[in-house]
Amino acid sequence: MGEGSGYGKVILFNEHFVVYGIPAIASAIGSKTIAKVEQIEGQGWSLDDDRPATPGYKKEKMEHQRDSIERILKAAAIDVNQTPINIYLVGDLKAASGVGASAASCAAIARALSAEFKLGFLDEKINEIAFEGEKGYHGTPSGIDNTVATFGGLIWFKKGVPNIMEGLTLKQPVEIVMGNTGIVANTKEAVAGVRDRKQKDPVKYDRLFGAANELAKYARSALVSYDLETVGKLMDKNHELLQSIEVSSTELDFLVEVAREQGAYGAKMTGGGLGGYMVALTPGEEIQERVARAIEKEGFEALRTEIGV
Ligand code: MEV
Repeated sequence: MGEGSGYGKVILFNEHFVVYGIPAIASAIGSKTIAKVEQIEGQGWSLDDDRPATPGYKKEKMEHQRDSIERILKAAAIDVNQTPINIYLVGDLKAASGVGASAASCAAIARALSAEFKLGFLDEKINEIAFEGEKGYHGTPSGIDNTVATFGGLIWFKKGVPNIMEGLTLKQPVEIVMGNTGIVANTKEAVAGVRDRKQKDPVKYDRLFGAANELAKYARSALVSYDLETVGKLMDKNHELLQSIEVSSTELDFLVEVAREQGAYGAKMTGGGLGGYMVALTPGEEIQERVARAIEKEGFEALRTEIGV
């Protein structure tokens, strides 16, 4: 049996803007997806998906997942008519919108295939295959999710030819809380919505995209100089920009407010939006616990984790 893993992620700055070549910053989180691939008797491929999940997520994403696995097999040049396989997914990363679940599973499956078929794929190749797999879920992914899922760490990412990826180092890891709205969101639709509105109102969107571009530079320097107060303020500002391009939601805005009221340095939606997760910067276990409990008290699930590990 071949085994491999992929990191869950949090986008700290500029999801959506990143699709258009604006720099973004993302970090791996402490949760992972693990894939196991085994050659079996039978035909084609089968899947046992034992990941913990937001209710409804797996059913909603079934077609995307099927498309994604077909793309991964093609990119890895595995012919399941010759060598039928079973794929088994497990791990502590929730199958949910906003935590990079799809990308983590793509990187994990690519690694497990490489191990089972002794293909010796290096990380660059795993990332390429995971990017192909992400197309099943996203249509036109920027590449940021699969890059973090594959390489881990804290990264500065700019889509281009080629993509620019630079690892950033934090003086020490920082606690965050990720609040789950419990809403399964469709990233493809969220990305398409931004595209439509951008085409309809280019002046407004150019201004917002310009602001996001500037913000990324400040955020990078605040992170590497460990100025967490500024990082938090910039996350707040980024949330406003994401609201302006209409990818937030009432539930996300509510959880962002709850986190800020409880002392988070900053908070924003994260990932595709329209549901899924928000993230709060909560340095120190005391603030982290306070924010997480407040989110839980409101009836939502809170993930306590860290960035920059
Ligand atoms: C989704 O995690 C992030 C988006 O920016 C889409 C992408 O970058 O492919 C919304």
